[in-house]
Amino acid sequence: MVAAHELGTSRRPDRQLAVVIGAGGLGTAVARRLGQHHRVLVVDLDGERAKAVARALCEEGGDAEPFTCDITRPEAVAELADEVRRRGGVRVLAHVAGLSPAAGDFDRIMRVNLTGPALVARALLPLASTGAAAIVIASLASHTFRPDADVEALLKEPQDLRTAERVAVALEPEQRTGAMAYQISKYGLLSLCRREAQAWGERGARIVSLSPGLIATPMGAIEFERSPIKREFYARTPLAREGTMLEIADAVEFLASDAASFISGTDLLVDGGLAGALRGD
Ligand SMILES: NC(=O)c1ccc[n+]([C@@H]2O[C@H](COP(=O)([O-])OP(=O)(O)OC[C@H]3O[C@@H](n4cnc5c(N)ncnc54)[C@H](O)[C@@H]3O)[C@@H](O)[C@H]2O)c1
Repeated sequence: MVAAHELGTSRRPDRQLAVVIGAGGLGTAVARRLGQHHRVLVVDLDGERAKAVARALCEEGGDAEPFTCDITRPEAVAELADEVRRRGGVRVLAHVAGLSPAAGDFDRIMRVNLTGPALVARALLPLASTGAAAIVIASLASHTFRPDADVEALLKEPQDLRTAERVAVALEPEQRTGAMAYQISKYGLLSLCRREAQAWGERGARIVSLSPGLIATPMGAIEFERSPIKREFYARTPLAREGTMLEIADAVEFLASDAASFISGTDLLVDGGLAGALRGD
């Protein structure tokens, strides 16, 4: 039964739930877009940030609530699943949170960018309604890189808390950088979605990854300062600009919608043509 409307609020208990993981630049744009037609649960490690985003969406007439969760901790993810269950299940999971190559060490980036999304996808799968969609934000980096076979084999258990350490051990010490963790973790997200599509499909639900190219975000701007390769990529992007957060929200909205109802277990590049240019066909 649908909960009662609350007078004087923009609460919409009749709407289905979108869970947005990450209340940073891109996460906020995605939450705002999904909030047009869903109740939104805004999830972040930084509870104040999640609260601020949920408050802003409510002030605009949306129905949003914050939830604090460290996606790298199974107990915290289990609490998130309990919260989603109390709210009647999930129609859209948009997993946006991730650390840039310079935002942590090898272990932290592997855990936030790969272990976390894998734990969240597993925990919310039993709560996915028929027609639900999970969209996992990966990166162009996953298309420009392929790990060695031994590392690739380890990525088949992304939700295992020991995977980050096992991958580190399989690499040479000088390879254990933030940049390498970023590439490996984002590569792992693509194979995660391909693999998990079977289980999501059994519930009549879908899971896809979305790989942004260069996107104008506060995090992206910092990376421009730190990473010369980003300038080269910028110069080689066929559309000759960065994408905007709104363009990523457009793609998430499409993938979440019934217009994408036969799209699962695959990746959508939203990169202005950069990956194709880098292949040099
Ligand atoms: N900007 C770009 O050019 C670009 C390109 C490709 C991919 N991406 C991807 O976009 C995504 C997000 O970008 P953004 O600009 O919103 O980043 P951001 O840094 O603004 O936000 C990331 C959010 O994740 C949260 N977070 C970090 N660790 C967490 C944890 N353990 N549990 C829960 N939340 C946690 C942070 O608190 C933060 O709010 C990332 O996955 C990034 O890899 C960005």
